[in-house]
Amino acid sequence: MEKEKPRGPLYYADYLQLDRLLSSQRMESALHGRPAHDEMLFIIVHQAYELWFKQILWELDAMLATFRGASVPEEDLGQAVLHCERIIEIQRVLIQQVDVLETMTPLDFLDFRDDLIPASGFQSVQFRLIENKLGMRRQDRLQILDAPYTSRLRKEDAARVEASEKEPSLFDLIERWLERTPFLHFGDFDFWREYRRAVDAMLAADRGSIRSNPTLTEDEKATQLKGVDATAGRFADLFKEGGSEPVHAAAPGRHFSRRALQAALLINLYRDEPILHLPFRLLALLSDIERNFTTWRQRHAQMAMRMIGTRIGTGGTSGHEYLDRAAERHKVFADLSALSSFFIPRSALPKLPPDVRSRMGFRFETPR
Ligand code: HEM
Repeated sequence: MEKEKPRGPLYYADYLQLDRLLSSQRMESALHGRPAHDEMLFIIVHQAYELWFKQILWELDAMLATFRGASVPEEDLGQAVLHCERIIEIQRVLIQQVDVLETMTPLDFLDFRDDLIPASGFQSVQFRLIENKLGMRRQDRLQILDAPYTSRLRKEDAARVEASEKEPSLFDLIERWLERTPFLHFGDFDFWREYRRAVDAMLAADRGSIRSNPTLTEDEKATQLKGVDATAGRFADLFKEGGSEPVHAAAPGRHFSRRALQAALLINLYRDEPILHLPFRLLALLSDIERNFTTWRQRHAQMAMRMIGTRIGTGGTSGHEYLDRAAERHKVFADLSALSSFFIPRSALPKLPPDVRSRMGFRFETPR
């Protein structure tokens, strides 16, 4: 067998393959014989995004591997929290990077924009993979000209994106993990009965303070009481026994099963118990990841408005209008941010019996 040639000392440019990376900026405007200065920025910003998308996918894949198992060891949860924190820092860069691209004025963009048709960020395979791996479903996407969202992709790219829809997403795996939470029933202590009592007391107090508020007219009182009734209805739905249908089934988008939502609520309410610290962090970070993607979508939609006004996009959507609606609608973990509707003050929270607390805690007992 031929021996591998001994390599010289590792060289910075070789390690990073800078020759390939730095010769990968081909300006369409130059190919058309009228180079537009700002197209270099446009390409480099897009490439930087795609590199960061790659890193986000790398972190997401590691998280998916962790949660695919039949159980998630406590030490892996800490690692999952670190993956989320990294994604969040990258997202901050992604949001901020819009400012760099916006140093290009709309007129400068028009110098080369038509050379790009029909290419568009709409064809970013990595962006679609991120969405699908997080848990975006085809049926929750905005419909564009009655064509599937993969219709503008090359065949092999469309196949890759469609294959990712079939894999269990982070949403699916987190839902299963929540459903397995062992703390929903604490032996003799019926958490749900106690919690329900506390909620009923809170709603009764809310109604009482509206009725006795001298600054409200009768009509205003009736409106506010209706609001409390609606809240009570949502709680009643959360408490329904059995059944796996989601609590917010009528609202668009993805929703956790009732059991998963109950577990997420419990984790949030009792987050001060040591064993729930990491699960609580994880849920909060997933909600932050979702919020950051929405912020990016909104920021990108504003940029598109600034650059092309109300024109259609190079990819053929309605442009700004599509992007704005997508920011509103394309969400996965909305249930986690909406969970606060079910929070009650710590002071009203049912106290956990000592034996339950000691089973939940990481407590160090000094040997006698
Ligand atoms: C001058 C700057 C930009 C303008 C005017 C612009 C405009 C648009 C428009 C109008 C769309 C809708 C699809 C279409 O009809 O083409 C779109 C989609 C998209 N763009 Fe941009 N874009 C810009 C920069 C960027 C950058 C820097 C990225 C970074 C990767 C990006 C990523 C995307 C993605 C991922 C989509 C799909 C969004 C979705 O379907 O939810 N765009 N863009």
